[in-house]
Amino acid sequence: MMSEALAKIEDVATRAQAQLQQVKDAAELEQFRIRFLGSNGEVKNLMQLLKTAPPDQKKAIGQRANAVKEAVSGAFEARKAELAAQTQDKGQAVDVTEPGLRPQIGARHILMQVTDELTDLFGRMGFAVASGPEVEDEFHNFIALNIPEQHPARDPLDNFYVAAEIGGERPAGGDRGPGASSTLLRTQTSTVQIRVMEKQRPPIRVVIPGRVYRPDTHDDTHLSMFHQLEALVVDKNVTMVDLKSTILQFVHAYFGPETRARFRPSFFPFTEPSGEVDVWFEDKKKWIELGGCGMVHPNVLKTCGIDPEVYSGWAFGFGIERIAMRKYGIGNIRLFVENDVRFLRQF
Ligand code: DAH
Repeated sequence: MMSEALAKIEDVATRAQAQLQQVKDAAELEQFRIRFLGSNGEVKNLMQLLKTAPPDQKKAIGQRANAVKEAVSGAFEARKAELAAQTQDKGQAVDVTEPGLRPQIGARHILMQVTDELTDLFGRMGFAVASGPEVEDEFHNFIALNIPEQHPARDPLDNFYVAAEIGGERPAGGDRGPGASSTLLRTQTSTVQIRVMEKQRPPIRVVIPGRVYRPDTHDDTHLSMFHQLEALVVDKNVTMVDLKSTILQFVHAYFGPETRARFRPSFFPFTEPSGEVDVWFEDKKKWIELGGCGMVHPNVLKTCGIDPEVYSGWAFGFGIERIAMRKYGIGNIRLFVENDVRFLRQF
């Protein structure tokens, strides 16, 4: 006949298994754990039976008690997993009243927004959009733009020359001496004027937004990498009046009809005559320079195979950062590149 102790063990085992099947949720499961598996639980207490058991039965009682402990623990873990799977299926783990985490949504950078606004505006004035490479050769950055070999603009200290040659070839006439690189990061989007005229015959009417690079010291209005919006118009009977009126039309459409603008005489090798355009920056109580403009130099047209006796053209190259600063009252150009979300989020 089974000893009293063994009978007790079987009783606990049967009740534990039966009760576990009744457990319906995590709270009941925890009650079960405390009752049977806790430090003062029924299963744990079975070990007490060893103390009072006759010596010849100790082994059998110990083995059975251990087996029951294992079995109940195993069944407990299984039930726990089962319940977890059930609550997941029902979606009960989601507390719909908990405040959500606001997703961080990115946005277009203010400069890209302004660039879009500009190409849109000029699009409505009949301009197409063109683009060209940022890594350029001396032909497109200087020579074709009528900037001669000795011109100070070609000083290596004023340009980011790079070691690689485009396509492994040195462009004809671009040699500044043995070992000198003729590949550089473009210093102006005027390079793309040439690239457009190489491919397209007049009438030409394009704007060219893009990045340019100069080893300038950074201050409130200068960065060593910035953006320009270039414009080029080539057709028959194009005059200075078209240049001035288009720029004024742009200034008034973009900054507002009351905006004051002024033209100053200037010099660029690729335009004749040349000018610079300033707009009044009320926030800083001073003129801010947008960039240069002028009538396309006959040499530039000639280099691109366009007859300057038949065609004429005008062009401008404005800093997009400067335009954005004037439009949105931004006093420091460095803000565009510092990636401070407190600044970026305002737009
Ligand atoms: N490329 C000149 C610069 O970066 C700006 C410029 C002047 C562009 C006159 C033009 C122009 O198209 O006609 O300083």
